[in-house]
Amino acid sequence: MSDTAERHPFLTGLSKHRGAPATCLVIFGASGDLTARKLLPALFNLGVDNLLPARFTLIGFGRKPIPDDEFRSVTVKEISKFSRRPFNDAIWKRVEADTHYQSGGYDDPASFEALKARIDSLQAAAGQEFQLVFYISTPPGVFADIITNLGAVGLASRALGTDRETKVIIEKPFGKDLSTARELNAVITRHFEERQVYRIDHYLGKETVQDLLVLRFANAIFEPLWNRNYVDHVQITVAEELGVGTRGGYYDTSGATRDMLQNHTMQLLALTAMEPPVSLDGEAIRDEKVKLLKAIRPLSLDADNPDFVRARYEEGLVGGDKVPGYTQEKDIPADSSTETYCALRFNINNWRWAGVPFYMRSGKRMARRVTEIAIQFKPPVGGLFDSDTRYDLAPNRLVIQIQPDEGTTLTLNSKVPGLEPRTQPVKMSFRYATTYGSDTPEAYERLILDCMVGDRTLFIRGDEAENSWKIFTPLLDHWKAAGREGLETYPAGSWGPVAADRLLGSRGHAWRNAGM
Ligand code: BG6
Repeated sequence: MSDTAERHPFLTGLSKHRGAPATCLVIFGASGDLTARKLLPALFNLGVDNLLPARFTLIGFGRKPIPDDEFRSVTVKEISKFSRRPFNDAIWKRVEADTHYQSGGYDDPASFEALKARIDSLQAAAGQEFQLVFYISTPPGVFADIITNLGAVGLASRALGTDRETKVIIEKPFGKDLSTARELNAVITRHFEERQVYRIDHYLGKETVQDLLVLRFANAIFEPLWNRNYVDHVQITVAEELGVGTRGGYYDTSGATRDMLQNHTMQLLALTAMEPPVSLDGEAIRDEKVKLLKAIRPLSLDADNPDFVRARYEEGLVGGDKVPGYTQEKDIPADSSTETYCALRFNINNWRWAGVPFYMRSGKRMARRVTEIAIQFKPPVGGLFDSDTRYDLAPNRLVIQIQPDEGTTLTLNSKVPGLEPRTQPVKMSFRYATTYGSDTPEAYERLILDCMVGDRTLFIRGDEAENSWKIFTPLLDHWKAAGREGLETYPAGSWGPVAADRLLGSRGHAWRNAGM
């Protein structure tokens, strides 16, 4: 990769995307759920926006033998079902004509030789060398096999050092604790340079997550307040209404903490709390995130003052419908000790944040689907309005709603018009849908495109993944040893267990469920 590609600045607009070289994208796990729901629709929508490289070849790779034609018609069916914009034959026809399928075993070097031969014959037919992008969207058990085999057959090092060198996108979960993440990084670095590696966290591709940097660093009014002198505490919520659905087999080995907090929620915390980067260069932003992760104090596991609450849902009502408890879901063992909810209290040991609690929680089967970051400011000094019950006052709060109904809201106090001296909290609100319309690209569109042009800003660096696991691994080990002891419950459709209220209550804080 050239220096120029590495220096692609963040948020520079679409012009940078026009330069993607002729690309062959190989999806491992082509018959999987993610390919159907996210990857194929993302490619289609890039096609609609005319953002695919002028020459684009797609190869689906999977264990099941499927003829090319059948795979092509599956792509049409899945795009029609899952794309945010209606399927359009004229647009997909060009990609479909260059769509192929290769079956093989992920641990079978001969299958990778066959893949290489297929790529070479497609290149020869096109009369052009391709940039190779490998998207690993399989279950994590075969990540290392795929990477090793790509290295062994020489595909990993194709065109190394040029602007069309091979790239590899690796889906989550990236390891299941610190040692497995380190092992995976070690396998990767045996075959790839770090600059070829794109560890995905799709939350980074969400428009509102990218806007966080703009909000913080393109507005002069927030930065002076963004510290322990003015911020009382921060709450990050990633709540889902959905249960585990058909993913019980995977989920029970993962749990909310590995599935959501270690990656997605931690990224939100890092972008909220990090220092201003020296530039919008991808490495500068990732450097700041890593520094922030390193400043987080180890979580207290002390039974008298723990920094965590874990729980799982029981039967309850979601949207008026009765839903089963976690252990009644498909593929969940009755004696499971997996958490579907986790709340944590973090302390950041640096000059900016010392003494400011950062709370985060994520759960399935909660009262509402909402992802938000709420910065609560300290009360004004002086207490001029404290003495009279007619003064209804709320803390100033900046809420960045990542999804749904994307937007930002600032809570202020105002005087109620009239002769009585009354006050009331009011909201200043900006909504994406009203300002920009609701046709925003999905995270995977942005991320696949960024990879094709060599911009790693919105991907996780190896040391970033490890530093995040360093924070979570002692907690996960602690729970493993404890089994079901200390695992709380909450009714499906609620805001989580009572113990999570105590986690904040002990510091005089409360989750802002009512205001949601
Ligand atoms: C995935 C998790 O990474 O993110 C899922 O594995 C979760 O369990 C999903 O449902 C949530 O993503 P989003 O974009 O719908 O918030």
